[in-house]
Amino acid sequence: FVVLGASGDLAKKKIIPTLWWLYRDDLLPDHIHIIGYARSKMSVADIRAKAFPYMKVKDSEKAKLDSFFAAMSYVQGSYSEEDGFKKLDTAIKAFHNGNKANRLFYLALPPTVFAEVTQNIHDHCFEHEGWNRIIIEKPFGRDFDSSAKLSNHLSRLFDESQLYRIDHYLGKEMVQNLMVLRFANRLFGPVWNRDNISSVLITFKEPFGTTGRGGYFDKFGIIRDVMQNHLFQVLCLTAMEKPASNNADDIRDEKVKVLKCIRPLKLDDLVLGQYVADPEGTGDAKEGYLDDPTVPKGSVTPTFAVGKFNICNERWDGVPFILKCGKALNERKAEVRVQFRDVPGDIFSNGVVKRNELVMRVQPNEAVYCKMMTKSPGMNVEPVETEMDLSYNLRYKDVKMPDAYERLILDVFTGSQLNFVRSDELSEAWRIFTPVLHQIENEKVNPIPYKYGTRGPEEADVFIKAAGFHYSSTY
Ligand code: BG6
Repeated sequence: FVVLGASGDLAKKKIIPTLWWLYRDDLLPDHIHIIGYARSKMSVADIRAKAFPYMKVKDSEKAKLDSFFAAMSYVQGSYSEEDGFKKLDTAIKAFHNGNKANRLFYLALPPTVFAEVTQNIHDHCFEHEGWNRIIIEKPFGRDFDSSAKLSNHLSRLFDESQLYRIDHYLGKEMVQNLMVLRFANRLFGPVWNRDNISSVLITFKEPFGTTGRGGYFDKFGIIRDVMQNHLFQVLCLTAMEKPASNNADDIRDEKVKVLKCIRPLKLDDLVLGQYVADPEGTGDAKEGYLDDPTVPKGSVTPTFAVGKFNICNERWDGVPFILKCGKALNERKAEVRVQFRDVPGDIFSNGVVKRNELVMRVQPNEAVYCKMMTKSPGMNVEPVETEMDLSYNLRYKDVKMPDAYERLILDVFTGSQLNFVRSDELSEAWRIFTPVLHQIENEKVNPIPYKYGTRGPEEADVFIKAAGFHYSSTY
C-alpha cells in the first residue's frame, strides 16, 4: 500500500489513521507493507508523530501500534522525475521476496501532479504478476473539459477496473442503506414515483467555514466541492431504477441513466450565498469568507448553494430534486427528505393533515424516520403529526459504525468498485454543471451574503418553498 503524498494533510488526517484502524481490527491482508512516498526528507517516525493525534490509540494498543509502524517504510522522491519512482519500485520489491505481490497506490496529492505521478507509477512501479490498483481523490478536474483530459490520460495508462475514484459519501452508513431501504422493502417501491412524491430535498450543512482551506476552496466553490459529487451521488441512489443485480456495474449503469435524464443546470435554478462574519459571534464566526487570508480579495466564490433539478424520465418528471449545501451554517447535518403528496380528499379539519415525509439522516446520528399522521391518544379523533423512528443510537446501541474511509479502502483490497465513481458518471455530472459554473465565473455572479452560523440566505428558503417543498421551520 503506497501512500503518495505521505507528508500531506490527507495522509496524516485520514489515510494513515484509517490504515491503522483496519490493522488494529485485523482487517488488512496478512503481509501488508505500507510505504510512504513524498518529496520531503522525513522518516516513518515523523509520519507517526504527525498522524498520531488523529489515530485514536488506546493505551492498551501501544504494542499493536508499534507493529503497525514496523510494517511501514518511507521513500523520498520527486513527483516528476523517474528516479524516485524507480527507487520506490526497488523498495516495494524488497518486500516481495520473489513472491507475487499486489500493489495499491493512494494518490493523496494535489491535482497538479496527478498526471505525472500516474505516468511514473505506470512506467516504473507496476507489478506484472499481481494486481495494481490506484485510488484517487477529487478534484477530478474543474469542469467537463479538464475532467475529460484527466480521464483520457488515466484511461491511456490504466484499465477502468484498476481505478478507484473516491467519493467518501459512498462509504457512509446511511448512503449505503439507501439501496437496502428502497429495494428490500415492499413498502416503498410502489410509491417511489411522481404520482406519490412531491419533492426530494437533499441537504448538507456544516457549522464551520473554510478553516484555513480557503486557498483550495476558492478555486472550486461549494458546487464543485460538495454538490456535484457528494450530493449528486445521493441523488442518484435515491432516484435510480432497481439495478439488475447488486454488482458494481449494474448499479453504476443505473446511476448514469439518472444523470443522462438531467438537463444542464441553469442560473435561474440556483441560489448562491457566501458567508460573512457575525460581529456578535465568537471564535471563527467573527471571520467571514473574505476575511480568510488565503481567499483572494473580492472573491465571489459561493460557500452556499441551492440547486433545483428535474429528472426527465417516466418516474420523476416534474418532481423537484432540491440540493442544498453550505458552510458556516447553524449546524452539521446531511440528510435526504422525501416528501409525499397531500392526501387527496381530506376528511379532517382543514390543514391538520400534513404531508408524509421519509427522512434518511446521514449525519450526525444516523436515522431513518417517517413523519406520519396518527390519532392523538384520548377521547378526540384528532390527527397529529408524529414520527416512526429508527434512530441508530437507540436501535443499534453497541454497534461501532465504521468510518467511510475504512469501508472504502477495504473495498479496494477486495476489488469491489461498487462504491467508487466510474468515469461516465463523472463526465455526466460535469455535463450538468459546467455551463452554469462557467457562467457564474464569467459573469462574476454575486453570491448573497449570509451571516456565519445562520441557516443561509433567506432567499434560499423562499426558493425551496416556491419549488414546492413544504417547509417546516425546523429544517
Ligand atoms: C469534502 C469537502 O469532500 O467533504 C469538504 O471537500 C467537506 O469541504 C467534507 O467539509 C465533508 O465531509 P463529511 O464527511 O464531514 O460530511
